[in-house]
Amino acid sequence: MRLNVLFASATLAAALPYIPSPKEKQSRDHAILKALAGTYSLVNTSSSLNGVKIPDEPYGEHPVGILTYSASGWMSATITATEPWLRPNLTFPFQANDTDRDWALVGKHGIGYAGPFRISDAIPANETDGQVFHGPLTVANVPTWVGANHRRNYTIIEREEEGKVAKYLKIGSERGGGYRGVLLWKRVD
Ligand SMILES: *[C@@H]1O[C@H](CO)[C@@H](O)[C@H](O)[C@H]1NC(C)=O
Ligand SMILES: *[C@@H]1O[C@H](CO)[C@@H](O)[C@H](O)[C@H]1NC(C)=O
Ligand SMILES: *[C@@H]1O[C@H](CO)[C@@H](O)[C@H](O)[C@H]1NC(C)=O
Ligand SMILES: *[C@@H]1O[C@H](CO)[C@@H](O)[C@H](O)[C@H]1NC(C)=O
Ligand SMILES: *[C@@H]1O[C@H](CO)[C@@H](O)[C@H](O)[C@H]1NC(C)=O
Repeated sequence: MRLNVLFASATLAAALPYIPSPKEKQSRDHAILKALAGTYSLVNTSSSLNGVKIPDEPYGEHPVGILTYSASGWMSATITATEPWLRPNLTFPFQANDTDRDWALVGKHGIGYAGPFRISDAIPANETDGQVFHGPLTVANVPTWVGANHRRNYTIIEREEEGKVAKYLKIGSERGGGYRGVLLWKRVD
């Protein structure tokens, strides 16, 4: 009985969106943007389908990436695979004798995008946990991402490393169809 009541109220709480007052939201968002602001280097990624771990096809096993958030609400992310067979040795701009196959590999195994970002109100957000929207994206190498808004969960994790506090950022995304991605970033600036 007690359990049922607890369960019912938890379900109700989860179903109700959290709506801060405009003033509350402004100061909360300001504090969160400040907490997130920085430059992060990608540590690793993991992918799952319906909760089962799967290989990360686009990024490979040893991706590199840089994510930047500004305190005024701008973001940029670039991630690429590093396996040589996914990264033919192309130069930019493209050459007349480059193959489309080589460029297709580069296109499939890297992502770069930037634009504004904002705090989502879909779940309670604070300076360590919550949700953001990347977007509407101003620029993206993938054409359909321009103008898109991408929902991302964030968690800031602080860990003592060699006598110093290292800051990590865990970013979770749902890619539709039961696909989920988790990216772990380490703050470098
Ligand atoms: C990513 O790195 C963290 C920190 O080193 C580690 O705890 C985690 O298991 C790693 N995840 C994957 C998928 O390799
Ligand atoms: C890749 O291209 C660069 C620039 O053209 C060249 O300097 C380098 O030697 C090439 N590396 C390989 C492995 O072909
Ligand atoms: C492609 O063309 C460049 C000159 O534009 C030349 O230097 C290079 O050797 C060519 N590469 C191949 C694989 O034919
Ligand atoms: C932020 O929210 C999470 C859960 O939503 C909670 O576990 C955490 O303690 C909160 N952190 C702060 C600093 O309030
Ligand atoms: C993001 O957080 C919400 C609320 O806690 C949760 O329902 C959702 O599954 C999370 N998504 C990811 C990808 O972690």
